Amino acid sequence: MTDFTNKVAFITGAARGQGRACALALAKEGAAIAAFDVGVTIEYPAYAHGAGEELRTLQEEIAAMGGRCIICLGDVRDDGAVSAAVEQTMAAFGRIDILFNNAGICAYAEVDQMTDEEWDAMIDINLKGPFLCARHVVPVMKAQNGGVIINNSSVMGLRGGRRLSHYTASKWGLTGLTKAWAIELAPWNIRVVSIHPTGVNTPMNDGLAAMEGKTAVEIAEASAGNLQPVPWIEPEDVAELVLYLASERARYVTGGQFVVDAGLLTG
Ligand SMILES: NC(=O)c1ccc[n+]([C@@H]2O[C@H](COP(=O)([O-])OP(=O)(O)OC[C@H]3O[C@@H](n4cnc5c(N)ncnc54)[C@H](O)[C@@H]3O)[C@@H](O)[C@H]2O)c1
Repeated sequence: MTDFTNKVAFITGAARGQGRACALALAKEGAAIAAFDVGVTIEYPAYAHGAGEELRTLQEEIAAMGGRCIICLGDVRDDGAVSAAVEQTMAAFGRIDILFNNAGICAYAEVDQMTDEEWDAMIDINLKGPFLCARHVVPVMKAQNGGVIINNSSVMGLRGGRRLSHYTASKWGLTGLTKAWAIELAPWNIRVVSIHPTGVNTPMNDGLAAMEGKTAVEIAEASAGNLQPVPWIEPEDVAELVLYLASERARYVTGGQFVVDAGLLTG
């Protein structure tokens, strides 16, 4: 496994799910972690989001393995909060090598019933949030002449999704940002990639299930269609891919889209 000693990862949506799994995996290999999350319930979608105590639990788990983790509370839509978190990270660790743009929301709505508020929240969190984070982290990476940005898109960033047009648009947008940033930032040795998981076994699916009056497995099966006979993959499967992409082993990997989809996009 790759050594991330002296590397620093800024991870959004770190309180739980894929962000948490990636924080633990990177910390286990020696990276210092800036764990950013909203930490409070937000108005949309109507399911619970990552909580402050989950960030504290993550911090304790990383400390128990001898690692370092700071907590950054804020909303990725809030430019001031993102700026403050980047400053906090620089004060604590002095550099940022990995930006994992992972915070995101999902909800269902048919196009002719979608409100402005639903559209705006989806685009602002899933697409503008990563832009704001990059806007503040990229100057740090440019000064270091190196870094990697990993954008957590979805299989919905490479195909369409029923009752998910706002989500799908935000995730295709992230694919586009990945391409454009990879071109723009290559002269500074900053790599940019996107990842595209199929359904992942995280609290997001529990939240969607509660909103739809279904079980989480029913939600996963309805939206997925994996070739491999599993309703979903685990957050640790995503972390395996993120570890590789963040590492020096992927030093000439930039601009690409990396699926971890149990074969969904093939079928
Ligand atoms: N779960 C899936 O099936 C699945 C599949 C493919 C891609 N994704 C994407 O993976 C990413 C992580 O999702 P997850 O499955 O771990 O979901 P999750 O809901 O379990 O975790 C998402 C985290 O992001 C945080 N967050 C949400 N809005 C925020 C905001 N405005 N500011 C700061 N933090 C915010 C939440 O508090 C939560 O801790 C998302 O971008 C999601 O769209 C999820």
